[in-house]
Amino acid sequence: MKILFIGDIVGRIGCEHLRRILPDFKRRHNVGLVIANGENSADRNGITPETAEHIFTSGVNVITTGNHAFRQSSCNYYYEECPYIIRPANFPEPSYGKGFCIVDMISAQVCVINLLGNVFMNQYGSPFELVDKLIDENSGCPIKIIDFHAEATAEKKAFAYYCDGRVSAVLGTHTHVPTADAQILPNKTAYITDVGMTGAVDSVLGVKKEQSIAWLTGKSLSARFDPADGTCQMDCVLMDIDAKTGRAVSVEQFLIR
Ligand SMILES: [Fe+2]
Ligand SMILES: [Fe+2]
Repeated sequence: MKILFIGDIVGRIGCEHLRRILPDFKRRHNVGLVIANGENSADRNGITPETAEHIFTSGVNVITTGNHAFRQSSCNYYYEECPYIIRPANFPEPSYGKGFCIVDMISAQVCVINLLGNVFMNQYGSPFELVDKLIDENSGCPIKIIDFHAEATAEKKAFAYYCDGRVSAVLGTHTHVPTADAQILPNKTAYITDVGMTGAVDSVLGVKKEQSIAWLTGKSLSARFDPADGTCQMDCVLMDIDAKTGRAVSVEQFLIR
């Protein structure tokens, strides 16, 4: 089964780029399922029901999120009502929504799991402990894809080796910078440290560079970051997963300008 995973969509401009690129990409590569991280799809961070609907109607089947999942309170009810938008499973309970979902495909069920790293981030529950429980609970699902939303490269790689052979893929998100290490680990789990982002190229992680520089140099104390504009990129990885065994057969990175 061909599964596409798209890196953090940033702002309205990222949403529009997704809609321009995705339908044709899906046709050309015979993609069966699309997962995208939407935690920054609303202008000035977070996700709203409107940006989520835009992402779904552009051809995405499952939306994952991250540390900005609940930045916009207008989305709280949407996490409860829509089964295909998930937030990190290690957020403190009770939180709106769920940390994983299951998609029924013709050839297999696919379990999508969202987890937050602990290093250099707000420390919620250990993703290592929680993933054991989630793998156990979803043992009937042959294909398991994890969006591991984390800052530290070492934590991402260690977590992927911890899961190797027990899940189909561990895909890093959050830094918005794509890494050049898409690979299949020894026990057939697909891995990349960071998928990257979908948003403006001439930017700092998708936001206006002037605002980022002003904040980092202390010239502005406002942490207001608007999405940048101009040419966009869509960073993604395309995986071929064996529907019977859940093992990764191939993983390929695409950086689409
Ligand atoms: Fe992000
Ligand atoms: Fe994030």
